[in-house]
Amino acid sequence: MAFLESAALTRFLINENFQAIVRKGPLTGNGMSNFGGYLGERDVADLQNFIFSRAEIVRKK
Ligand code: HEM
Repeated sequence: MAFLESAALTRFLINENFQAIVRKGPLTGNGMSNFGGYLGERDVADLQNFIFSRAEIVRKK
Protein backbone atom coordinates (compact mmCIF):
# COMPACT_ATOMS: atom_id res chain seq x y z
CA MET A 1 0.00 0.00 0.00
CA ALA A 2 3.04 2.27 -0.06
CA PHE A 3 1.98 3.85 -3.35
CA LEU A 4 -1.36 4.93 -1.85
CA GLU A 5 0.56 6.94 0.75
CA SER A 6 3.14 8.38 -1.59
CA ALA A 7 3.84 11.82 -2.97
CA ALA A 8 3.65 10.21 -6.41
CA LEU A 9 -0.04 9.43 -5.85
CA THR A 10 -0.72 12.98 -4.69
CA ARG A 11 0.89 14.33 -7.87
CA PHE A 12 -1.10 11.82 -9.92
CA LEU A 13 -4.41 12.87 -8.38
CA ILE A 14 -3.92 16.60 -8.63
CA ASN A 15 -2.66 16.39 -12.21
CA GLU A 16 -4.74 18.97 -14.05
CA ASN A 17 -4.23 16.95 -17.23
CA PHE A 18 -5.76 13.81 -15.72
CA GLN A 19 -8.81 13.83 -18.00
CA ALA A 20 -6.75 14.53 -21.11
CA ILE A 21 -4.12 11.88 -20.29
CA VAL A 22 -6.75 9.18 -19.82
CA ARG A 23 -9.16 10.18 -22.61
CA LYS A 24 -6.98 11.78 -25.30
CA GLY A 25 -3.89 9.55 -25.13
CA PRO A 26 -0.95 12.01 -25.19
CA LEU A 27 1.30 9.52 -23.35
CA THR A 28 0.56 6.42 -25.45
CA GLY A 29 4.16 6.49 -26.69
CA ASN A 30 5.26 5.87 -23.08
CA GLY A 31 2.82 3.03 -22.43
CA MET A 32 -0.22 4.87 -21.06
CA SER A 33 -3.15 3.76 -23.22
CA ASN A 34 -5.88 5.99 -24.57
CA PHE A 35 -9.09 5.04 -22.75
CA GLY A 36 -11.16 7.63 -24.61
CA GLY A 37 -13.17 4.96 -26.42
CA TYR A 38 -14.16 3.33 -23.13
CA LEU A 39 -14.31 6.03 -20.47
CA GLY A 40 -16.26 9.30 -20.55
CA GLU A 41 -15.57 12.43 -18.51
CA ARG A 42 -17.84 11.26 -15.71
CA ASP A 43 -16.17 7.80 -15.60
CA VAL A 44 -12.71 9.34 -15.24
CA ALA A 45 -13.93 11.76 -12.55
CA ASP A 46 -15.44 8.77 -10.71
CA LEU A 47 -12.15 6.84 -10.96
CA GLN A 48 -10.16 9.84 -9.73
CA ASN A 49 -12.53 10.24 -6.76
CA PHE A 50 -12.40 6.50 -6.03
CA ILE A 51 -8.59 6.48 -5.96
CA PHE A 52 -8.55 9.64 -3.85
CA SER A 53 -11.00 8.21 -1.30
CA ARG A 54 -9.04 4.95 -1.06
CA ALA A 55 -5.85 6.92 -0.43
CA GLU A 56 -7.58 8.95 2.30
CA ILE A 57 -8.66 5.73 4.04
CA VAL A 58 -5.16 4.23 3.85
CA ARG A 59 -3.52 7.44 5.08
CA LYS A 60 -5.78 7.51 8.15
CA LYS A 61 -4.80 3.97 9.19
C1 HEM B 1 -3.63 -1.07 -18.47
C2 HEM B 1 -3.83 0.04 -17.81
C3 HEM B 1 -2.81 1.16 -17.73
C4 HEM B 1 -1.50 1.19 -18.06
C5 HEM B 1 -0.65 0.08 -18.64
C6 HEM B 1 -1.02 2.52 -17.76
C7 HEM B 1 0.27 2.95 -17.95
C8 HEM B 1 0.74 4.20 -17.67
C9 HEM B 1 2.11 4.66 -17.85
C10 HEM B 1 3.26 3.81 -18.35
C11 HEM B 1 2.15 5.96 -17.48
C12 HEM B 1 3.38 6.88 -17.48
C13 HEM B 1 3.40 7.67 -18.76
C14 HEM B 1 4.44 8.79 -18.72
O1 HEM B 1 4.92 9.16 -17.65
O2 HEM B 1 4.78 9.32 -19.79
C15 HEM B 1 0.82 6.34 -17.05
C16 HEM B 1 0.48 7.58 -16.61
C17 HEM B 1 -0.80 7.95 -16.22
N1 HEM B 1 -1.90 7.14 -16.17
FE1 HEM B 1 -1.99 5.23 -16.74
N2 HEM B 1 -2.04 3.25 -17.25
C18 HEM B 1 -3.16 2.47 -17.19
C19 HEM B 1 -4.41 2.81 -16.73
C20 HEM B 1 -4.77 4.05 -16.29
C21 HEM B 1 -6.09 4.41 -15.79
C22 HEM B 1 -7.29 3.46 -15.72
C23 HEM B 1 -6.05 5.71 -15.45
C24 HEM B 1 -7.13 6.56 -14.85
C25 HEM B 1 -7.70 6.23 -13.73
C26 HEM B 1 -4.70 6.18 -15.71
C27 HEM B 1 -4.26 7.46 -15.51
C28 HEM B 1 -2.98 7.90 -15.73
C29 HEM B 1 -2.54 9.27 -15.49
C30 HEM B 1 -3.41 10.44 -15.01
C31 HEM B 1 -1.17 9.30 -15.79
C32 HEM B 1 -0.23 10.50 -15.68
C33 HEM B 1 0.42 10.49 -14.31
C34 HEM B 1 1.33 11.70 -14.10
O3 HEM B 1 2.33 11.83 -14.81
O4 HEM B 1 1.03 12.50 -13.22
N3 HEM B 1 -3.95 5.14 -16.21
N4 HEM B 1 -0.01 5.26 -17.17
